[in-house]
Amino acid sequence: MLKLNYDKLSEINSDHGLSRKEIEAESVNLKMYLDKIKSYDLGFYSIIDDEKLLKSIENYASQIKGKFQNIVVLGIGGSSLGTICLQQSLKHLYQNELSEQVYPKLHVIDNIDPDLINGIEELLNLEQTLFIVVTKSGGTPETLSQFLYFREKVKSSNLVIEDHFVFVTDPEKGLLRELSNENPNIKTFEVPSNVGGRFSVLTAVGLLPAKLIGINIRALIDGAREMRDKFLSENFEQNLPFQMAAIQYLSASKKGKSINVTYPYVQKLIKLSDWYRQLLAESIGKELDRGGDKVNVGITPVHALGATDQHSQNQLYMEGPNDKLFIFITVDKHQVELEIPFEEKFSEKLGYLKDVSFEKLLKTEMQGTIDSLVNYNKPSIKLEIEKVDEKNLGELLMFLETATAFLGEFYNIDAFNQPGVEMAKNLTKKYLTKT
Ligand code: PA5
Repeated sequence: MLKLNYDKLSEINSDHGLSRKEIEAESVNLKMYLDKIKSYDLGFYSIIDDEKLLKSIENYASQIKGKFQNIVVLGIGGSSLGTICLQQSLKHLYQNELSEQVYPKLHVIDNIDPDLINGIEELLNLEQTLFIVVTKSGGTPETLSQFLYFREKVKSSNLVIEDHFVFVTDPEKGLLRELSNENPNIKTFEVPSNVGGRFSVLTAVGLLPAKLIGINIRALIDGAREMRDKFLSENFEQNLPFQMAAIQYLSASKKGKSINVTYPYVQKLIKLSDWYRQLLAESIGKELDRGGDKVNVGITPVHALGATDQHSQNQLYMEGPNDKLFIFITVDKHQVELEIPFEEKFSEKLGYLKDVSFEKLLKTEMQGTIDSLVNYNKPSIKLEIEKVDEKNLGELLMFLETATAFLGEFYNIDAFNQPGVEMAKNLTKKYLTKT
């Protein structure tokens, strides 16, 4: 069960920290914000009840079992980051390098750099490869250009397109949907129209590739449902996502903490930070509020990894500007227990490592970082989960999604659109259009 620990906020100077009372005072807004969120057409927290979706993914997975050595996801942004996070968190950290493979290897190609595309192509045996083309809008040039490229390669290898491509896209709109309608033999999964890209990890977007590489998607959904219940609670104590959003909002608007540093001390969660970076940036960074007034709000997401970044960013975090809220993420138990061997001859210089495991060292380093931040009057909170497994990750993903939905209400902005990404897209099209 996820715990949100914000004890350290009240241990620092009130110019920078927050008292429990200040946070609790926000509880008067809980029901109003929840009602507002419920009044929007949002599918991201109800899609997890869609039994038909889970069955269709499971059926498809059993149909193609043993047919492919490689799964390649072509997608970008919300269509790729969740999948990368699921793979990194829930599979072996060197999964694709293991000599024994029970499930296909998963590669997520989320860029159009030719070196990346060529690089993956050199690894693949096309006969043994399934491409999952993921684009909610069905019109994203990065994804479609990758699709055109690999479709050509599959065709010129005399392979059948529908045997090697699966689509994940909008039920009605977009070019990929048109292509799917033209060729109904291409298996196509839907991303419900009311689920936005960055909120789509628990739809076929993330669940399909996850299932194909052996992730227990039902446990993931179970965890997400538990957190969804908390999100729907009108009780402040139970509603952890609301508490989180209140802390982020108050820290940013009242204490000048416009940067959030996600700082897992868990290697497996490094990609969760990438996923969350998009969620927070695209959802909250907005020019206009819901009334159409210019507000230019946003929280800048940054990520760090413990203990690695103690040796890279901590100097800035301790002594630089006090403009950040630190969000530590930790687990009660790592997957393995590894002792650090000790020899008496090192006792003078390394005596502190006697009888210490890697887990203990890592956790103690985190404590050292958190306590140093307190000494420098820098605010931090901690998200604690038991371990990195499907259930806990499902809970964590839903927690961050629903906290972001609440944060949108605190700012009175639409957390579910992204008008700011349109201009660059349109300019690219304009520059490339031949007259
Ligand atoms: O959150 C979003 O909506 C975006 O980041 C999209 O996920 C991203 O632009 C990719 O879009 P699409 O899935 O339509 O290809």
